[in-house]
Amino acid sequence: MDASVAVSCRSVTKDFGQGESRTKVLRGVDFEVNLGQMTFLVGESGSGKTTLLSVIAGLLDATAGEVVVLGQPLKRLSNHQQVVFRRTNLGFVFQQFNLLPALTAAENVAVPLLAQGLPRLRAIAKASDLLTSLGLGQRLNAFPSQLSGGQQQRVALARALVHEPRLIVCDEPTSALDAATGRSVMELLASFAVRPDRAVLVVTHDSRVFDFADRIAHMNDGIIDRIEQQQN
Ligand SMILES: Nc1ncnc2c1ncn2[C@@H]1O[C@H](COP(=O)(O)OP(=O)(O)OP(=O)(O)O)[C@@H](O)[C@H]1O
Ligand SMILES: [Mg+2]
Repeated sequence: MDASVAVSCRSVTKDFGQGESRTKVLRGVDFEVNLGQMTFLVGESGSGKTTLLSVIAGLLDATAGEVVVLGQPLKRLSNHQQVVFRRTNLGFVFQQFNLLPALTAAENVAVPLLAQGLPRLRAIAKASDLLTSLGLGQRLNAFPSQLSGGQQQRVALARALVHEPRLIVCDEPTSALDAATGRSVMELLASFAVRPDRAVLVVTHDSRVFDFADRIAHMNDGIIDRIEQQQN
């Protein structure tokens, strides 16, 4: 595989259900995410964007086809190896944020660092610095239920970035944010993606931030049918 490629999908399919109720959600995805770039994934609701992100992130197994992430074919890893691989190399922002309700904002962000074995005080300090840089310095000890949607979204983003993964995958990271906060989140992601050993893949409907993309992949009914290169 080309060394400049962060993610490669070849003829990837994903079916849900069994027998009569079986539905083909991904129907042969061929797609690359390049290192050093921000790639956007757009398409209608239900076209399969979240499913594709989940397959790339190793949270769902593809039904068929090959997914190679940072040079590693995912299906050659055992479940345990996949967990370790994800913990080291990947950061995700989920469409539903998935914050842990019993942990504070700073504790939520510290989770990936604790999973890597960083001592608690250092993990909390690093998490707090990042949250402060995202404008949440006053909310470090708040629980998710005490935060607005936009604040929760920024906590989820900080959790995805804090361990400096090489691949960051974000599902609608600006949907709950006002225009100015949305752009500052994109600026942060773009500053991550300019490094030649890193890549960012973003699902978004938010046309206010399309100018941040290096490439825009269009998903239509379970396939990527068009890629636009942006002139930046
Ligand atoms: N676990 C599942 N079991 C069965 N069907 C599923 C499952 N997950 C997703 N689907 C179906 O797969 C299709 C694609 O869903 P997906 O969440 O990938 O769409 P999406 O492009 O992310 O949409 P949105 O923009 O609304 O988030 C939908 O028709 C959905 O109902
Ligand atoms: Mg989705």
